Amino acid sequence: SFLRDEDLTQETRDLISSLPSEKGWLVSQMYQFQGRWHAQALLQGLLECQKRFEAKDSDIILVTNPKSGTTWLKALVFALINRNQFLVSSGNHPLLVTNPHLLIPFLEGVYYESPNFDFSELPSPRLMNTHISLLSLPESVKSSSCKIVYCCRNPKDMFVSLWHFGKKLAPEETADYPIEKAVEAFCQGKFIGGPFWDHVLEYWYASLENPNKVLFVTYEELKKQTGDTIKRIAEFLGCGFVEEEEVRGIVKLCSFESLSSLEVNKEGKLPNGVETKAFFRKGEIGGWRDTLSETLAEEIDRTMEEKFQGSGLKL
Ligand code: A3P
Repeated sequence: SFLRDEDLTQETRDLISSLPSEKGWLVSQMYQFQGRWHAQALLQGLLECQKRFEAKDSDIILVTNPKSGTTWLKALVFALINRNQFLVSSGNHPLLVTNPHLLIPFLEGVYYESPNFDFSELPSPRLMNTHISLLSLPESVKSSSCKIVYCCRNPKDMFVSLWHFGKKLAPEETADYPIEKAVEAFCQGKFIGGPFWDHVLEYWYASLENPNKVLFVTYEELKKQTGDTIKRIAEFLGCGFVEEEEVRGIVKLCSFESLSSLEVNKEGKLPNGVETKAFFRKGEIGGWRDTLSETLAEEIDRTMEEKFQGSGLKL
């Protein structure tokens, strides 16, 4: 997985030797670059992406913190924009036989694994996803008219989701990491992609300043008002009127129950070896209660209250 320290180019090695670094939760070592903490492999992917990626005006980029509903958003937007080509109620929709991560490229992941991947070959509009912060996005993403859909999740649920994901994927040396220390690191902003609040707030303010460029949605909205949120996304992307029946079809096709029970998502593997079932755990709001003590939950609440104060954003 991308959490492991694998092949790095000399350029990345040279760069990381000059960066602030810390022993991390989930990764053996994290590096601070452009204000964010990164695992080695994805940092290399980010650097390649900054150098090589040329955005087009028609591009759609989905942005999330890890464990904030990436897989779901990928499935929903794929189904939405391709609804005329792949009827959502048909029995042979690509999402029934392919994991969403294999249908939609993960920018920094692809640039790490295959730096020469030709993005110009993707059908238009190109749909991609990333965890890269606004500040570190390739210049062309900012200067073009491409669209960004950002999805944020309640930090306690996101943390808990990452905690369980990490247990499956983390290198041995961090597998026994105590949860108290992980919460502390999370609240200090020191986890991959962190600080959480900087990532969220950058995109939050961008969505307020430039609502035609960035749409901000939450996992919780998607969960409670899936159909309405799909319609908001459709309107933002300018992808035409969506029939009620199509909306219902997309909701159903991409629901946790539907996706998680497919063979391809129960038994499949991504090319980097990660089992597809790792992306489907509970899919609930408030599931953190099973894992976090009241004390740890309060620690996260206190931190987030302070960081999000005055932003108008309630998570
Ligand atoms: P939990 O671990 O809380 O269950 P990501 O896709 O960003 O890696 O996020 C994974 C989280 O989204 C997991 O949360 C997973 O169960 C949940 N998820 C995956 N598919 C989903 C879907 N179709 N509907 C709702 N939640 C989903």
